Amino acid sequence: MEPRHRFLRACLGLETDRTPIWIMRQAGRYLPEYMETRRQAGDFLALCKNPELAARVTLQPIERFGLDAAILFSDILVIPEAMGMPLRFGVGEGPILDPPVRSAQDIANLRGNPEERLEYVYNAIRLIREGLGETTPLIGFSGSPWTLATYMVEGGSSKHFSRIKGMLYDRPDLLQDLLDRLAEAVTGYLNAQIRHGVQAVQIFDTWGGILGHDVFLQFSLESMKKIVKGLDRVGPDGQRVPVILFAKGCGTHLESMIATGCDVVGLDWTTPIDAARRQAGGRVALQGNMDPAVLQASPGRIRQEAEKVLRAYGPHSGHVFNLGHGVTPDCTPESVAALVEAVQGFDRGSLIP
Ligand code: CP3
Repeated sequence: MEPRHRFLRACLGLETDRTPIWIMRQAGRYLPEYMETRRQAGDFLALCKNPELAARVTLQPIERFGLDAAILFSDILVIPEAMGMPLRFGVGEGPILDPPVRSAQDIANLRGNPEERLEYVYNAIRLIREGLGETTPLIGFSGSPWTLATYMVEGGSSKHFSRIKGMLYDRPDLLQDLLDRLAEAVTGYLNAQIRHGVQAVQIFDTWGGILGHDVFLQFSLESMKKIVKGLDRVGPDGQRVPVILFAKGCGTHLESMIATGCDVVGLDWTTPIDAARRQAGGRVALQGNMDPAVLQASPGRIRQEAEKVLRAYGPHSGHVFNLGHGVTPDCTPESVAALVEAVQGFDRGSLIP
C-alpha cells in the first residue's frame, strides 16, 4: 500500500506534488508559544514528561507554519535516564548526567529494557496523532548508540570527547558492551514508538562526525545497522515506516550509511546534495541540507538559499527538505516562515529544461 502523504512518499523515493519540508528542532525556544508552554510545565524535562504539554508543543510549529511532518517532542537523553542515570538540564549548561558511566561496574549497573519505563512518550504519541489527524505524519526518534554513549561517558555535553575517546582506544571491549546495550534499548524503544503510532523514525548520530573513518564504521555505524535491521518497518496501519539516518559531519560515509538498509540519509550542509544524489542513485532518499545559519539572513536571502538547495537536488523524486542541523534558539519565527514559504511555493516546473 503506497502512502498518500508527500513526506512519507518522498522518504520512499515516490513521486510527490512538491518537495516536503520539516525542520529539525522545529519545536523549541525560538517560538514564544513554546516558551510559554515550557514555563507552564516548570522546566524542559517536566515538559518532556507531560504528555498533554509535549503534544501541544509538537503541534505548535505545525499550526504556525503548516510543515509537512511533525516530530515527537522529547529528548534523546530519556533513554539514559530510563537506564537509571540521573539527568538534569542546568540553565544555560545543557544536559548533565551525573554520575557518568565510566567503569565495567557502571555499565553492568545500567537497567535493561528502558523502553518499558517510557510510557509518557507513548502517551504523548497517542495525543499527538489525535491532534494531527490524517493530514500530517508524525516522526519518532532516538539518539544513536554512539551519540548516547558520548553523553553517558562524558556526563553531559563535551568539547573534546576525551573520556569516551580514551575508552574507545584503551577499553574498546567496555565501549562495545555499552553500545550493544544501547543498540538493544534503542531498537526496543523505536519499535514501541512505531507500535504507538509514529509513521517514520529518525536516528540522530549528532557526534558520528568526531570519529575517524575506521572507528566511525566500527563504533557508530555498526550499532546503527543493527538497529535498522531490528526495526519493525510496517506500522499498525499496515504502512511502511521509513527509517531516516542523520549522522552529522558524515558526508564522507554516505556509501556505508546506505548499506545499513535505511530509507533516507540526512545530510548536513557541508555535503553537496547534487553529488550525494548522484552517488545514491535512487537507493535511498536524501534529507537536507541548508545551513541553519542562513536563517540569520533576510527573508530574500533565505528564499535564494532554499531555492539553491532545491535546484541542486533537481527534478528527481526522493528529497525531503530540511536544515543540515537543528534550528537555533536565536532565529525568529518570521525567518522560519520565510523558509517554509520558499520551499512550499517553489515552482518545480522551473527545474525541467
Ligand atoms: O526536533 C524537535 O523539535 C523535537 C525535539 C528534540 C529535542 N531534542 C528538544 C530539545 C529532539 C529531536 C532532540 C534531540 C536531541 N537532544 C539531540 C540530537 C539532535 C541534535 O540536535 O543533534 C541531542 C544531541 C540532544 C541532547 C540535548 N538536548 C542537548 C545537548 C540539549 C541542550 C542544547 C540546547 O540546545 O540547549 C538539549 C535540550 C533540548 N532538547 C531543548 C529542546 C527544545 C532545549 C531545552 C529548553 O527548552 O531549554
